Amino acid sequence: MSFESLWGDLAPVGRQAGGGYFRQPFGSAEREAVAWFVEAAQARGLAVTGDGFGNLRATWQAGSGPAVLTGSHLDSVLDGGAYDGPLGVASALAAIDMLRDRGFSPSRPISVAVFVEEEGSRFPTACLGSRLATGAVDLDRAATIRDADGVSVLDAMADAGLDPSAGSDLLNEVGCFVELHVEQGRTLVHRDAAIGVAECIWPHGRWRFDFTGEANHAGATAMADRRDPMLSYAMTALAANKQARLADLSRATFGRVEVTPNGTNAIPSRVTGWLDARSASEEVLAQMVAAITAQAADRAGRDGTAVAVTPESVSAAVDFDTGLAARIAGPHGWPVIGSQAGHDAGILQQAGIATAMLFVRNPTGVSHSPAESAELVDCLAGVGALADTLALLAGDPP
Ligand code: GLV
Ligand code: MN
Ligand code: MN
Repeated sequence: MSFESLWGDLAPVGRQAGGGYFRQPFGSAEREAVAWFVEAAQARGLAVTGDGFGNLRATWQAGSGPAVLTGSHLDSVLDGGAYDGPLGVASALAAIDMLRDRGFSPSRPISVAVFVEEEGSRFPTACLGSRLATGAVDLDRAATIRDADGVSVLDAMADAGLDPSAGSDLLNEVGCFVELHVEQGRTLVHRDAAIGVAECIWPHGRWRFDFTGEANHAGATAMADRRDPMLSYAMTALAANKQARLADLSRATFGRVEVTPNGTNAIPSRVTGWLDARSASEEVLAQMVAAITAQAADRAGRDGTAVAVTPESVSAAVDFDTGLAARIAGPHGWPVIGSQAGHDAGILQQAGIATAMLFVRNPTGVSHSPAESAELVDCLAGVGALADTLALLAGDPP
């Protein structure tokens, strides 16, 4: 069975009228994508198991010892592209087909993972499935993580028929992990390479900025008498952009905002904006977020508003296993490149599992958008690269 048929079957799942995808964790489209995975895995004779959080693994039971894990995620951001996550899952199944066609006999099991809630599109913490599976987020903390409707992640999992108290055996059963992912930039385009290998993930995080003021009439309230949190927010968004431009190798984005009561003819009582900030260095990231926070507080003081800043999801810098990256990339001459995006691979690496990532060239570099793309010929090169990598890791000797 080919990559094209796997991809063709998954393509309509969660696709919206405008061409973008929305597969929110435990929603109908994401569950349909999960069902696609289970069916495709079972059709290949892979043993599908799930942990208490909804992370799935489909295993080619062979040899002995801890498994070589591959795979990625099937959830998406709001109005995302087709490739971020699903490319790694479909490529993993296609790579197993390729290894079998080659007559490859693994010395240890090979598993394909689907991690839940990688994007943090429903809950405020990114990579929640892999964080729960590795213990980076425990059940006590999970009980406090709620979606926009106030549903805790544990309740959402229970509603999906899962039992979070059952935990996960991922750390006991997996020896190493390789995640294939579409590149979310144009480094491979500039390097004229279809495939790359990850070197690191930038430290990054999400901070919620709650600005509170006084609701009042848009006509009857004199400009001097207002306590308008929209102004404090607006200036903070500008400050974030400026601080990221001033800092070395950094990004700052307000991509989500909620206004209360959100009426055209009323000064709002509250504006909440979410800052996504990233940098090549943890020190620079901390300084940048501190500078944005200080500017927000200063402006709130002048506007007669208040601001509270809450970190919601902070991810430290990840350095992938350099020896593993060199073993994978070296024979092929694949470039070793950094990632400004977060991945479950980073969580597993931090949990002590030797982890590598393969990137597939993205001609536009656009991601988290319907315009995300990859050429079929590069996707097929990705399947071949992943098959070679799995053969290296699951072959003999270890
Ligand atoms: C995930 O794609 C992230 O980096 O936000
Ligand atoms: Mn992803
Ligand atoms: Mn993503």
